[in-house]
Amino acid sequence: MENFVTRLDWTSHHARALKGSLRVPGDKSVSHRALMLGALAEGTSHIRGFLEGEDTRATAAVLQQLGVRIDAPADGERVVHGVGLHGLRGTTALLDCGNAGTGMRLLAGLLAGQAFDSTLVGDESLSRRPMRRVTDPLARMGAKIDTQEGLPPLQVRGGQALQGISYTLPVASAQVKSALLLAGLYAQGETEVIEPHPTRDYTERMLAAFGWPIDFAPGRARLSGGHTLRATDVDVPADFSSAAFFLVAGSIVPGSELRLQAVGLNPRRTGLLQALRLMGADIRVENERESGGEPVGDLLVRHAPLHGIELPEVLVPDMIDEFPALFVAAMAATGKTVVRGAAELRVKESDRLATMATGLRALGAHIDEVPDGATIQGGPLSGGAIESHGDHRIAMSFAVAGLIANGAVRINDCDNVATSFPGFLELANGCGFDLRSA
Ligand code: S3P
Repeated sequence: MENFVTRLDWTSHHARALKGSLRVPGDKSVSHRALMLGALAEGTSHIRGFLEGEDTRATAAVLQQLGVRIDAPADGERVVHGVGLHGLRGTTALLDCGNAGTGMRLLAGLLAGQAFDSTLVGDESLSRRPMRRVTDPLARMGAKIDTQEGLPPLQVRGGQALQGISYTLPVASAQVKSALLLAGLYAQGETEVIEPHPTRDYTERMLAAFGWPIDFAPGRARLSGGHTLRATDVDVPADFSSAAFFLVAGSIVPGSELRLQAVGLNPRRTGLLQALRLMGADIRVENERESGGEPVGDLLVRHAPLHGIELPEVLVPDMIDEFPALFVAAMAATGKTVVRGAAELRVKESDRLATMATGLRALGAHIDEVPDGATIQGGPLSGGAIESHGDHRIAMSFAVAGLIANGAVRINDCDNVATSFPGFLELANGCGFDLRSA
């Protein structure tokens, strides 16, 4: 019998003013970490605002395979029954992280300190992503992890005595930093991570919230092994990276006014807000408050004429997931937008510099691609067909591009939008997109 695989494609059509007040799903980074720390804690942690995405569900499933009970009393809620630092149970089954680089890299650090062996696998896109950035420094701590020439699957050999190290990251990466800190929970002595540019500090903040002594400041984190994590409740803010598509959409479609509720505004995530403001965007932060130790606010975006900029390189790590959306904003801007210092984009869920440049060119754009960035000439977009290469953020960015294109934009391969943004199509159409399953 033949096996039919159905693939989800979308078409995005020109739209009039976008209006509405929306709440985008929970933060992916925070949801992954809340599950992991909840699992290793003593006691029961309640997570609210949990991202019901495939990435974070994959992490939950892995932890369940390792013997952790995780209940889902309602949509967006998880109750994690912690087993304590040494309570995970090994399994010979493959641990499938799906599409999630965060899941695999953080779990590599966490599993390096266990008494048992484990094997982490991922989907086609994750199986192409570099893992030496975590396995090399973990090896320096005494971990034994085999890769397939630097790529997944990862075979983690348990029963190793880990030693704390001081490590300066060669590239700014919160995933690598977090993997080392999680391994550091199991290490003798002190583990210190120094970053070339500060990255998101959720692991550090959350370790502190779970009662683990940790010393951290932007660009630096230090902890030692041998303490206890105590269960705590976690309120997950709405994901700035998901809000980003609506910030761009609201900025570029004339007459638009959108309110995005309770968005996480950790300064290591909001580079796009600054970039869009430099381009002339009208985005206001209202009702700023703290929730679960994180800054949160409502974002009010109104259409504004944008102009191209030379993006300050210092903003790159603070908007590392937002470049596909920025490229669309750059198309709607007058003049050119120059991005440099962003080579990391080549090793995300797809090569995002190439995927965006190829896709936008298919819609008539002029883009010069260089190894670490691109120069995007603002101008009209035509209809056409693009490949998302299974990359969720590429698919959603072209859904936004379709709003201002002069013809329908067909986006092939949109299934992976569910990894980070389940319900995107409905939410987008609810505020005025014209996005259809093709
Ligand atoms: C993440 C860190 C970033 C980001 C990813 C989530 C995290 O990756 O791109 O979507 O949760 O730590 P890098 O740390 O590899 O830059």
